[in-house]
Amino acid sequence: MAQARFATFLAVTSFLCTITHFQHMLVIANALPNDDLFALDVLSKLRTDHDSTMEASSDFGHIVQAIPNAVFYPTSPTDIAGLIKLSLSQPRPFTVAPRGRGHSARGQALAPGGVVVDMRSLAGRGGDHGHRVNVSSDESWVDAGGEQLWIDVLRATLERGGGLAPRVWTDYLRITVGGTLSNGGIGGQAFRHGPQISNVLELDVVAGTGEMLTCSPDKNADLFFAALGGLGQFGVITRARIALERAPKRVRWVRFAYSDARSFTRDQELLISRRDSEPGFDYIEGQVQLNRTLTEGRRSSSFFSASELDRLTNLAVETRSSAIYFMEGAMYYDDDDTAAFVDQRLAMISEDLSFVPGHAFVRDVSYVEFLDRVGRDEQKLRSAGVWDVPHPWLNLFVPRSRVLHFDAGVFKGVLKDARPVGPILMYPMNRDAWDDRTTTVTPPDDDDVFYAVGLLRSAVAAGDLERLERENAAVLEFCDRAGIACKQYLPHHDSQDGWKRHFGEKWGRVEAMKRKYDPRAILSPGQGIFPAAAAASHDSV
Ligand SMILES: Cc1cc2nc3c(=O)[nH]c(=O)nc-3n(C[C@H](O)[C@H](O)[C@H](O)COP(=O)(O)OP(=O)(O)OC[C@H]3O[C@@H](n4cnc5c(N)ncnc54)[C@H](O)[C@@H]3O)c2cc1C
Ligand SMILES: *[C@@H]1O[C@H](CO)[C@@H](O)[C@H](O)[C@H]1NC(C)=O
Ligand SMILES: *[C@@H]1O[C@H](CO)[C@@H](O)[C@H](O)[C@H]1NC(C)=O
Repeated sequence: MAQARFATFLAVTSFLCTITHFQHMLVIANALPNDDLFALDVLSKLRTDHDSTMEASSDFGHIVQAIPNAVFYPTSPTDIAGLIKLSLSQPRPFTVAPRGRGHSARGQALAPGGVVVDMRSLAGRGGDHGHRVNVSSDESWVDAGGEQLWIDVLRATLERGGGLAPRVWTDYLRITVGGTLSNGGIGGQAFRHGPQISNVLELDVVAGTGEMLTCSPDKNADLFFAALGGLGQFGVITRARIALERAPKRVRWVRFAYSDARSFTRDQELLISRRDSEPGFDYIEGQVQLNRTLTEGRRSSSFFSASELDRLTNLAVETRSSAIYFMEGAMYYDDDDTAAFVDQRLAMISEDLSFVPGHAFVRDVSYVEFLDRVGRDEQKLRSAGVWDVPHPWLNLFVPRSRVLHFDAGVFKGVLKDARPVGPILMYPMNRDAWDDRTTTVTPPDDDDVFYAVGLLRSAVAAGDLERLERENAAVLEFCDRAGIACKQYLPHHDSQDGWKRHFGEKWGRVEAMKRKYDPRAILSPGQGIFPAAAAASHDSV
């Protein structure tokens, strides 16, 4: 027995010697006495080689970089619990950042000098998504691993019961269940069903204490609501139970153009006020096209043809507006709905709208083609070499009562002469579809509607990043000065004061939940909300 233990100790020690940056950080003696095999198993899934650590040291934003000491490749949630326990057994715990696909913009999934957990490895290599996507026998929900991409959840649920699907989608599907649920998960279906976090029934979470907990509104409810929108601060989501609906087969996908913000927002708000039974869209978003985007941008569009873009440009010129808008709607239907029936429904909806006459653009696509539209944009941008560029994205929730003021100050003010470098999204959502118990922050609730405004811009030329960052700062400053109570979505704040203001009345709860579920503040340090209890910063590379 003693000999076996000694052998394990030697194995651990020799393994550690191959770990160059990490060895002097870990105090293995602490982990060994009770749990030596366990520690060995954890260590065997850590890698410190250059390729692993470099891959985990940047993200989609390409703005910040930070090298972890190691990358962890778990094959089960238990492995993640083991890693966290190993960290907590250290005199100075190391930080642990789950990384979905690193589609964050500002280093939120990085762990400077700590350990990044490559969530992908939970899915394994087997077919059938490694048993990480299961539909319930009554077909009302799907259990998906936190590491799963939404596109894979879609593929798996479509195969079941004549085609099932989650109800709310982000615009882009190559992001993970755990990553979006840690933020909120918004898209054109959220006006009706709320964000993705309003459609979750249960979670498995490995808390920052190393405990593996199942939680729901009835069980460990405080952890459930903390983790939803929790920016990775309380635990690692390893499974989410997500509500399903019957998937439609096809989608009538339309864009209506407007030359003024007032009628654009009025129509959007009219349509999101219609609930299931009334004629309306199943998805509503919208975009702002700055004049220069149209006249100079000319980026390939996956929706508009060249001649349609010409018409939109003419519209901007004729109306002398520095921005035009288009509302985007999608109407779901099935194979047995006749084209005439679908046309008639669309005509009924259009009658009530006040877009510029003759400026409705209609497409007809399969449900999957519709949901995966940004996947096609990605392919185009990749082949043009403008995908892996800096993305200083700014996403804001803007109160409905101030949205025209925001439009005037931002699109016709701060960004008036902004160069075309990516889409600007703008669409309203109904507040009552949000659950205030979750951690995600929305604007003050004197409005029953708020807008999501996404400045999704890319830095493609020298100097762009600095200029875009200045413009972002000017937008935030404008909101501050004008007293528009904007809240950042996918938030980034430089100081804890900034975070306190961000969370507002939720801050007390956020702090209390942190003390309870991640008392050493080891999780998702890249968010910069809580300083790690004992950061091993001078050991970092
Ligand atoms: C092209 C594009 C389009 C997008 N469109 C939308 C959109 O329409 N709507 C929308 O809401 N968002 C959208 N996003 C933003 C997206 O939700 C975020 O990037 C989000 O972070 C998910 O990315 P990820 O899965 O790679 O997570 P990561 O960036 O890897 O992680 C995000 C944060 O969550 C933590 N985390 C990751 N996994 C877990 C887990 N399992 N448990 C706990 N914490 C975890 C990380 O530590 C990090 O702090 C878009 C992003 C891109 C790049
Ligand atoms: C799916 O079901 C299998 C078999 O019951 C189980 O082992 C696995 O953990 C489940 N996966 C998820 C993500 O719940
Ligand atoms: C729109 O852009 C064109 C070309 O850059 C410019 O000539 C025109 O003045 C702009 N119009 C407005 C209203 O800003």
